[in-house]
Order: sequence, then structure tokens, then C-alpha cells
Amino acid sequence: MAEMAEIREPKDRHEAEAAIRQLTDEIRYHDWHYYVLDSPVISDAEYDQLLARLRDLEQRFPDLRDPDSPTQRVSGQVRPELGTVRHPSPMLSLKSAYQEDEVRNFDKNCRQELGRQRVEYVAEPKYDGLAVELIYRNGRLEVASTRGDGQVGEDVTANVKTIREVVPVLITAPGEMIPSYLIVRGEVYMRKDEFQRLNRQRAEAGESLFANPRNAAAGSLRQLDSAITARRPLHIFFYEIIQVEGVSFTTHWEVLNILPRWGLKTDLAHVQLCSSLEEALLYHRQLEKIRDELEYDLDGVVFKVNQLSDRERLGFRTRDPRWALAYKFTPRQMTSRIRAIRVQVGRTGLLTPVAELDPVHIGGVEVKSASLHNQSEIERKDIRIGDRVLVERAGDVIPYVVKPIKEERNGSEQVFHFPETCPVCGAAVVMSEDKKAAMCTGMTCPAQIKKRIVHFASKRGMDIEGLGEKMAEQLVDQGLVRRLSSIYQLRRQDLLALERMGEKSTDNLLRAISASKSQPLDRFLYALGIPLVGEHLARVLAENFAGLDELMAASRDDLDRIREIGPAVANSIASFLANPDNRAVIEEMRQAGLSLPNPHFKRKAAGRLPLSGRTFVFTGKLERWTREQAKAVVESLGGRVTERVSADTDYLVAGPGAGSKLDEAKRRGIQIISEDELVRLIKER
Ligand code: IVH
Repeated sequence: MAEMAEIREPKDRHEAEAAIRQLTDEIRYHDWHYYVLDSPVISDAEYDQLLARLRDLEQRFPDLRDPDSPTQRVSGQVRPELGTVRHPSPMLSLKSAYQEDEVRNFDKNCRQELGRQRVEYVAEPKYDGLAVELIYRNGRLEVASTRGDGQVGEDVTANVKTIREVVPVLITAPGEMIPSYLIVRGEVYMRKDEFQRLNRQRAEAGESLFANPRNAAAGSLRQLDSAITARRPLHIFFYEIIQVEGVSFTTHWEVLNILPRWGLKTDLAHVQLCSSLEEALLYHRQLEKIRDELEYDLDGVVFKVNQLSDRERLGFRTRDPRWALAYKFTPRQMTSRIRAIRVQVGRTGLLTPVAELDPVHIGGVEVKSASLHNQSEIERKDIRIGDRVLVERAGDVIPYVVKPIKEERNGSEQVFHFPETCPVCGAAVVMSEDKKAAMCTGMTCPAQIKKRIVHFASKRGMDIEGLGEKMAEQLVDQGLVRRLSSIYQLRRQDLLALERMGEKSTDNLLRAISASKSQPLDRFLYALGIPLVGEHLARVLAENFAGLDELMAASRDDLDRIREIGPAVANSIASFLANPDNRAVIEEMRQAGLSLPNPHFKRKAAGRLPLSGRTFVFTGKLERWTREQAKAVVESLGGRVTERVSADTDYLVAGPGAGSKLDEAKRRGIQIISEDELVRLIKER
């Protein structure tokens, strides 16, 4: 199969005929991958585009339309080994809309047909799973089938019975009716976390991976051996009643609320009754915003006319009902081709393989590269250079390669070999045993330094405006900055000589650099880029150590004892601070005038000694000890003794004859204690 065929705009009938044939073949090929193999080779959005193109051509050349055209029927094929079931009424699909005006059109048509100002809709998630139909006779599950080609589906009764959320017999509450005959439809799905777990297990067992939860659900349900299905974590939401005897309803909303009482789960937490289109549109926006937080995948929402009598009046088209519409979310997956794989060096020296792609638009953004995470992932997914791949971009996440489309390989694809030396500085690369991390060992690797500078100067770090990526690049390339501390040695004439640096921007940058010297300790610790230490842990460190000296003097065990710091982090901090190069850089910065105030230090939390972090001042006469003895006692218990009362003083120990220090302490509201109280304090702690 070629890449998504470039079908030119047909010039004449002859060309249109050829284009229709090509599109039809292509769509059938994709249907087969999707429905039979549970392994699509293009994204849903691309499939919809093909179908839309075919529909357009058929509209322009109606006589060329084949009665069996994919536009005329519900796609899908059956796995004959499963046995087949003819649907009592065909399982149709839903018309899809990607734009708001298409949705407004749908509403307008409904209103016109019904002669109504406003139509009530039920808005539901459009689950990205596998549609099933269940038939209950006299309350007993008789048969369950997949959609198949819409007329005939696969018999998956035994498999569906293994799903814990499916009741084999409808529940009857005392005094309530259950239908004597019921055809109900729903979606079988797998939760996102369960899908991840299943794929991890499959990777460990050397089995092929599912591309997404939908394929995993479909693959699991369409097993010949129900014992396999039973081991897969499948769930179901019911969303439509097709036929019911013995009970009647007037609205779809009632249906969704009654089904759970019979034991048929509906998604009541997420469905919504909307009194107008505007409400339904709002629902779409809100659900799209939180889609990542939901347990399951959804690719849009479905709007359904609520009144069942209205539905009857609206009726059906060939493939889909006129009373419902799927309003899709912005697509997140597209296919592209890997032109090359390059390796990026991060600030800590971590090397990340990145795929360079033929540019594609995903969710309104042009994507030219995508993360491949690490060597282990590349091997697990068997990604090769030249592969056609499925790329996903979701929200703020960096685009990544979901899977290669192996069916489209032509033999020219190449296996990627991770470089043994750093592509930037040439130093040796060390790879972890599990192949999940590769590090550049170069101490002076320019790529690392540039990234470290940018991080150091970032808004949440030392906040040096004007020192972004471009500037860091110039500073390193011109040899002006070789280590972080050189930032504080930059001279006016050095900066003026750089590209695009005038007097004003130079002065601004120097001023920003100078201002950063009084940033607090926690920002500095974050800005240093100690592996595993983010903003939060930097703050925890600042809360636990009075200053940088105290932190640098701390042992691995001291760090490990802090509640929020685990052994790995303790190890990372201790090794970073023990490294002579890092110590030299830090010392140079302090020489340059970094003051590193620490407003976050929580005296009580610090250290292990009873008086750690506390400052004492003595005044007046002591009875029990001499001043020297008292000072030695306090210091041996971790406290500090100073001569003068200041903002840092925690306690003034006052004996008879206290003078001006007592007044000063009172003025400042500092706690004043007697010698006896000091003894009690020591014993208490
Ligand atoms: S109602 C006659 N409701 O969408 C209308 N379908 O293209 C029957 N789907 O494969 C469909 N969520 O599996 C309906 N809340 C929902 C749905 C839903 C997902 C799927 C369904 C079918 C496809 C229709």
C-alpha cells in the first residue's frame, strides 16, 4: 500500500472514475485493517478525509456511484470463525462533524423538520471502543454481537458474558417491570491505565502491542477463546435501546436512567440533558478540556434528540440517523514518515532520540519532530528510520510516535543504532542496562551547558530576563560562558560585541544578572539543575537547611532523613554537591556576590538536635551555669548563641540585672525566658 495516495483533482469523467476506484480500494483496505485486524494503519481523521473525498466525488458524478460504495454502507467486516448474528435492525453509524457550523446545521435541520424553536438534546461521550448489541429475552442474555458490516455481526456472546459489568439476567427490583424483550446497544472499552498495563505485560512477554485502548478492547472481545477475553479488563457503557417490549419510554434521558436499574450500566456521571444547542456546545467544550482526566478514551461527543417521538419523525439516512450527530474533538493522531532519528542532549546530559518527520498538522499545530523516548522504547515498538508512523500530540505533551505501520514497509527502512559518542561534544555515551537512559559523560559538553544556562536563568529559576536560548547559544559559542558561574563574570564589552546587542539590551541584561544575585536559596537550588530536584524539592531543602553552607555540609543520611526526600534524591543531591567541579562553580558564584537569603527556613523542622536552628542571646546573671557553660550547652545541642538581639533571635535568656537587651527583645516581640525555662526547653525537646 502506498502512502496516502495523492489523488489529484480529476479533470474529467475518466479521471474521476479512476479516482473513485482508487479511493474505494483504499477505504476497503483500511476497513479491513480496522475491523478485521484491529490494527488501523491510518488515523481516524485521515480515514474520515478519504471518505469525505469519495462522497464529494460521488456527489459530483452521481452516475459513477457504485451501490456497494463504502459511502453507502456501514463499514465493517466479520471474522467468520466467530459465528455470525444478523442484527434485527441494522447497526448504523453516526454522522461526524468537526466544525461548529456543521453542528449548527444539524440543529437547524432538526428544528425545521420538527417545526420547533428549540430541540432538547442528550449529550454523551463518544466512547472510543467497540460497539456491541445485546439481546435479552425474558430478562436473560440471549445473544451478543459486534457491529460487523452493520447487517451481520460477529457472535461474541460467550466473550461478552465474561465482562463483569454485563449482567446475564436483568435485575428486577420489587414491584418494577423488566422488559420481556430488549435489544440494547453499548460500547465495550478498556480503561487507559489498564491498557498501559496490558501493553507492558505484552512487551515483557514479547507479544505485539495494541496501538490504543480501542484496539485492545476490540482485540480482546473478538477472541475465539473466551478464557482470553475473561482475563482482559473490559468494561461497558450502554447508550441506546433499539427495541423494547413490556416497558415504554418517552425520552432518551429516561432510558439512560432506567437501564442501570436493570443492571445495564450507563455513564450517568458524564451524560447531560441539554435544553438547547448552546448547552450542548458548552458540554462539548467542557468535555474536550477534561478528556485527559477521564479514565477512558473518547474521540468526541454525541448529541441525540431526546424525545423519542421526535426521533421517529426525523428518521434515518442510508448510513446514519438524522436525530444524532457525533461532534468530534480536534484530532490528535496523524500519520507521517520518519526521515531521520537524531539524538538530543538535555541539561543533565540525558540523551533523547527524536524522530524527524515529514511535517504534519495535528490539532492545528505543525509537527516536525516527535519524541521516541529512549532506546528501549524504540526496540519495544520496533521503530525504524524511513517507517511510516502514527504520531500523537495531546495537549501540552511533546508529540510522540505511537507505533510504526509495519504493513507499509518496503525493505528500505533502517534499524537505528544509538550513537556511542555524544553528537555534540563527542564524549562517550553510557547506556543504562535497561536501555532506558543514555548519558553524555562530557563535563564540558556545550549542548548541556546551553541548556543549563537557559534553565538557570529561567523565570522560575534565577529569573534573568534576556538570557534565553538564543543568548545562551551565543555566549557558549563565543566562548564567553563555559560554566554557569561565568554568567556573573560577563563584561559590558563582551556583550556589546554579540549579535543584536545594543547598549540598551546590554545594560538591561547586566542589570538582570546583577539583580539575580539576591534571589533566595530555593530558586538557586532549583536553578542549579541538580538531577531530580524540581521547584518543590528545592523549597523543601530550603525549609530544612538554614543556608547553602549547612546544605553542603549535610551527608546523604542527613538528607535521607528529611521526610519528603527519598534515597534516590538524597543520593543525587549529595553527589552533585560533592562533585569538585560543581563546588567550584558554586564557590565562584558566591564570590561574585550571590547572597542566597533563605526566608523559607523552618527552624523547628531543621536538623535532628533539640536546639537546631534556634538562636539564643543571654543577658543578666545566670545562676546555674557560667555564660561560657551555657553557651557550650546550647551549642552542643545544635543551637546558636549570639551577642546581640536581632531579627534572627528566637530566645532571650534573661537573668537578674538584665538591661538594654531585654528592652530590645521586648520591642521586637522576642520570647524571653529564664534560665530554668531554658533547662525545661532543653529537656522537653
Ligand atoms: S449511538 C444509531 N452513542 O459510535 C446510533 N454511539 O459511529 C447508534 N459510539 O460504533 C450509536 N459512543 O459504537 C452512540 N454515546 C454513544 C456512542 C456511540 C460511541 C460509537 C458506536 C458506533 C459509532 C457510531
